[in-house]
Amino acid sequence: MSTAAHQSQDNPNDMEPLISAQPPHPDAEQHEPTGATATPAVDPSSDATAAEPSATTTKNSSEATINITAAYFNKVAKHPDDFHIGSFAIPAEPPTDHVRIKPPTDHVRIKVYAAALNPIDWERAQKGTLGRLFPIKYPSRVGYDVAGVVSKLGAGVTRFNPGDAVYGRLNHETGVGSVADYVDIAADDIAHKPSCLRFNQAAAIPLAGLTALQALRASGLAEGKNIFVNAGAGGVGSFALQLAKNYFRATKVSTTVSTSKVEVAMGLGAAEAIDYTKKDFVKELGPQYDVAIDTVGEHSRIAKILRPHASPPSKFVSIVGVPNSAEVGPLLDQLRRQGLFGAAKAKFIGKVLDASQWWKMRDLRKRGIDYGFVFARSSGEDLDMVFNALIEGGALQVPIDSTYEFSESGLRSAFSRLMEGKVAGKVVICMKKG
Ligand SMILES: NC(=O)c1ccc[n+]([C@@H]2O[C@H](COP(=O)([O-])OP(=O)(O)OC[C@H]3O[C@@H](n4cnc5c(N)ncnc54)[C@H](OP(=O)(O)O)[C@@H]3O)[C@@H](O)[C@H]2O)c1
Repeated sequence: MSTAAHQSQDNPNDMEPLISAQPPHPDAEQHEPTGATATPAVDPSSDATAAEPSATTTKNSSEATINITAAYFNKVAKHPDDFHIGSFAIPAEPPTDHVRIKPPTDHVRIKVYAAALNPIDWERAQKGTLGRLFPIKYPSRVGYDVAGVVSKLGAGVTRFNPGDAVYGRLNHETGVGSVADYVDIAADDIAHKPSCLRFNQAAAIPLAGLTALQALRASGLAEGKNIFVNAGAGGVGSFALQLAKNYFRATKVSTTVSTSKVEVAMGLGAAEAIDYTKKDFVKELGPQYDVAIDTVGEHSRIAKILRPHASPPSKFVSIVGVPNSAEVGPLLDQLRRQGLFGAAKAKFIGKVLDASQWWKMRDLRKRGIDYGFVFARSSGEDLDMVFNALIEGGALQVPIDSTYEFSESGLRSAFSRLMEGKVAGKVVICMKKG
């Protein structure tokens, strides 16, 4: 591995790690994983002002870099041991007018206090469906969800100040990598953290919460309607149940969970939580729903509990099925701009997706049910306007499955838990105070 502070142009959060060359970062001491009940390494309620990373490599002002510590994988991951923590060089200043962002947006640098994992972190690393569709450059950093304190502002950022406690979701366009001691994020993608929320809770919200919100919006859910969301205790499901009840004012919210999570789901707003390990939700519920969100991949069975040939039509929204070319279009455009593949490949992928979605959704079509796929996107505005308002009004809980320290063993334990697919709420990694 090169000892030079090499900068990649593809992802400001994804520079070549200086694994062999750097002494351990002061924040990267090794700790045993804390497991589900342990106290996080950081006091997540602390709003202490962030310290700057120390090491600075100065060439000229535009090429100056600093070293940070971040989680990454360096090959197709098959096991939690394939995740590592190492030193990366990043530009000394947060990026401004980033080349790939249209319109350009300015970034802030966050001293990370907590970062949450999502299934997509494992999916990317193991080259699952998403990984096969979207090429990954190694070493690749890990993590979308972040909560922390603003340590530096990109030029032009006016909504935030150094020392502000914030949270948000990174995206493919600007680069992922929230499991780190510092990360750069577009100012548009973050919101101020409500003071009543701890950092580990704030980090647990963005990706899963925004997915639930945007899927529910796409479903047209409104007061007077009945909704079914499967896996109601999962990361997305636990937010979807609460938002359906407390924000969209659904009349009836039903879900499926395994045995130990029935009470959890009822506590999140479900009127019915069917134990899917013992009962068939199709037989239990019947065709009474106006709207369904699929977070598991059960479209043919869900088709049987949506009201057939209704007017207006019942609506099925998937976050796990197959998107069509229109739904995946913005993402494909972005990947083309990044040079990850050309226009012909994008067109071919679009055609394959259209045919695949048309075939897979035939049961829904036969019953006159509208369907669609939602790719969630980052949105500081949604965090601010929807989540902050609900949290401050006491109308949203943030379920946390387990918390781990920022160390290789903590990281690997967190991935082990995520990969079991059995969580109740979110898997969160807490960083040490800088
Ligand atoms: N399109 C997008 O933008 C987008 C965004 C976020 C997530 N996703 C995808 O959505 C899926 C869910 O994400 P997540 O973050 O909610 O996952 P998660 O936090 O890992 O939760 C998965 C949940 O599913 C439950 N489960 C597993 N099999 C089930 C079944 N047959 N019936 C009911 N529940 C079942 C699990 O617990 P038990 O089995 O113990 O009950 C667990 O609670 C993932 O595939 C993810 O990649 C897509």
